[in-house]
Amino acid sequence: MLEVDNLVVRYGPFLACDRISLNVRPGEIVGIIGPNGAGKSSIARSIVGFVKPAAGDIRFLGQSIVGTPSHHLIRSGLSLVPEGRGLFAQMSVEENLLMGGYALPSQERRKTLMARCYDLFPMLKQRRRQMAGTLSGGQQQMVAVAIGLMGDPKLCIFDEPSLGLAPIVIQQIGETLQAMRKLDLTVLLIEQNAKLTSTVADRIYVVAAGLIQFHDTPQKLLQNPEVLEKFLSA
Ligand SMILES: Nc1ncnc2c1ncn2[C@@H]1O[C@H](COP(=O)(O)OP(=O)(O)OP(=O)(O)O)[C@@H](O)[C@H]1O
Ligand SMILES: [Mg+2]
Repeated sequence: MLEVDNLVVRYGPFLACDRISLNVRPGEIVGIIGPNGAGKSSIARSIVGFVKPAAGDIRFLGQSIVGTPSHHLIRSGLSLVPEGRGLFAQMSVEENLLMGGYALPSQERRKTLMARCYDLFPMLKQRRRQMAGTLSGGQQQMVAVAIGLMGDPKLCIFDEPSLGLAPIVIQQIGETLQAMRKLDLTVLLIEQNAKLTSTVADRIYVVAAGLIQFHDTPQKLLQNPEVLEKFLSA
């Protein structure tokens, strides 16, 4: 579904991603973990067209998407829930969801997707008229995920959904990701939280200093002493 091939991202002279190659197959949950500044968000931003790669190719559904404007990518089924949420604080929960689904071709599809979001997050239904900026951090994260899902994506990229959230809310996010598997969604999960990622992901790429250091199933990574010591000790 997604193939990233030798991706290079530079910010001026600084090399943020150094020949990153990875892939995500339909129905998978694939994790990318790594420390602050590893280049994780740079990978995500390149995939959705916010950052122009210096080299390499990115294919989505078999077609190269490098240089394709982000709004086209959204319509073709790619969604990014960015780091730090990115919702409309002054709008109600329901208005936020409608913004997520603005590009959908039919009113009916919008209704179906909204019902799906409310199934996934009953709390959002109860609070659909509340201003999003007044929700708790965890609730706002749910809105951000719901906005992403309202775009009717085939591939959802989440950039650090657990950031700043309490363990109980992180657990809920894990459960939501598992529920997405049942909805036939494909997920690229970017996280510093290795524990969350290893409980939900089929495969994990470990990124540090702009390079993929390891790639394996969570089970195998958890048996690798070097990975444990360097990346999974937190
Ligand atoms: N617009 C930019 N201009 C210059 N440097 C940048 C820019 N964006 C990111 N960088 C640098 O590129 C490196 C990778 O950043 P990136 O945001 O991809 O890391 P990350 O793995 O997502 O980190 P975090 O876990 O802290 O979110 C960092 O050293 C960062 O300072
Ligand atoms: Mg980041």
